Amino acid sequence: MENKDIELEFSIKSGAPEKQRTACVVVGVFESRKLSAPATDIDRASDGYLSEILRGGDMEGKAGSTLLLHKVPNILADRILLVGLGKERDFHEKAYRDAIACAVKTLRDTGSMEAAITLSEIPVKKRDVAWNIEQAVIATQDALYRFDRMKSKPSEARRPLKRVIFAVSRRGELKYGEAGLARGLAIAHGISLAKDLGNTPSNICTPEYLAGEAQKVAQAHGFGCEILDYAACDKLGMGSFLSVGKGSDKPPHFIVLKHEGGAKGDKPVVLVGKAVTFDAGGISLKPAGEMDEMNYDMSGGGAVIGAFRAIGELGLKLNVVGLIPACENMPDAKANKPGDIVTSMSGQTIEILNTDAEGRLILCDALTYAEHFDPDVVIDLATLTGACVIALGAHPSALYSNHDPLAREIEHAADHAWDRVWRMPLWDDYQDQLKSSLADMANIGGRPGGSITAACFLWRFAKKYHWAHLDIAGTAWIGGREKKGSTGRPVSLLVHFLLNRTLK
Ligand code: BES
Ligand code: MN
Ligand code: ZN
Repeated sequence: MENKDIELEFSIKSGAPEKQRTACVVVGVFESRKLSAPATDIDRASDGYLSEILRGGDMEGKAGSTLLLHKVPNILADRILLVGLGKERDFHEKAYRDAIACAVKTLRDTGSMEAAITLSEIPVKKRDVAWNIEQAVIATQDALYRFDRMKSKPSEARRPLKRVIFAVSRRGELKYGEAGLARGLAIAHGISLAKDLGNTPSNICTPEYLAGEAQKVAQAHGFGCEILDYAACDKLGMGSFLSVGKGSDKPPHFIVLKHEGGAKGDKPVVLVGKAVTFDAGGISLKPAGEMDEMNYDMSGGGAVIGAFRAIGELGLKLNVVGLIPACENMPDAKANKPGDIVTSMSGQTIEILNTDAEGRLILCDALTYAEHFDPDVVIDLATLTGACVIALGAHPSALYSNHDPLAREIEHAADHAWDRVWRMPLWDDYQDQLKSSLADMANIGGRPGGSITAACFLWRFAKKYHWAHLDIAGTAWIGGREKKGSTGRPVSLLVHFLLNRTLK
């Protein structure tokens, strides 16, 4: 029942593509019929074989198009796969990643065991060789990821792709390529774990299961790991967190991961991840049609566990703490009821006007608990609001912060990781929407600016340190019956953020 990683072997090479002795060499063609540099080499070696095929109209170079050629004259590889790259002037990050994904899916479907991919040689504006290789590895693992542990028979792959060679154009670039490869692999492994956790249905992926998965990662990499049960959380005064899990027969678990890779006494980065293993809405029950995807409501916590896997593989010289409040939000006789008032660990009281706004109720206590670690910065990740999906759609995560330099640091890491964010306002003006006549605050702020008022709620618990919040409701998974699945975001962003800090 384990979901096996498709373990690919990656390597980096420089050298003439026509001399690669491999099952398949992949070369790119721009629109309209313009050969990339490696494609030109093949064309020259084969006395214009590619140009002739293109002249015949077999391929235009449109993005997403492919053409597999056999027995190309004077070429040592068994086959040449042409991949369309679209217009050269539009060849940016997305086009690059899409081209790699298209190439590896075609390789898988045509049964190649090994391939040398030269698309990684094609320059992407503002990016360097290490970036190209790192992104190629991540895009490859992403394209080939499958989650079939819940199928009675694993889906049949034809002779699966085993070895992928990414090309760099000069020998001197090999060492940058190798560095990109190591980073890309660690990030891809973190993403893959976050995806597995997200995709595992909530009858299996319970708070206890997540705690077990965190412990496994801790064991593999020598992290500290502590699981706080109900009694321990109660003793800490986490009245808000505990109120959410009460409606479930699966007990809450508060997971603490600790990586001490930095100097003793260096303030840690604290990562906080929302992990509601199923969000039925509680007594404010969600409509049936929107409920089946709510197993993904633990994606923030899953991303923290995934990031820790990458942190371990890279051996980051940094102190990092992961805090994951995990519980289930269900309707029940013991569940929170609209109008209930709870006392958070900070002492602030909260009127629960809607039990479906539970994410902020578990995060606020985790944010208070973060103070125990004397953090340098705290970043929380949460599939927090449907309103965020309405505002930004599926491409950027929403970024909020009480500290501009931290926001810029995250924006920078997000751009480099190509795991993008968009900064949103955290203005005082919105705070009025959270007023309650009976308690210190209400847990909802009405429909206008729903992602913003949720962030404003969290802000009230994060005043003692530099803090950022990522609403990942639109980015953590892809919806829909046929292709639904976790994206593993924002593992890549987190790892880049931490990596950049080790370089300071
Ligand atoms: N987990 C949901 C947010 C969510 C909804 C993420 C849909 C992705 C897709 C969260 O707990 C929630 O239910 N939020 C409510 C808040 C509202 C009651 C103020 C929402 O967004 O509807
Ligand atoms: Mn909810
Ligand atoms: Zn939720």
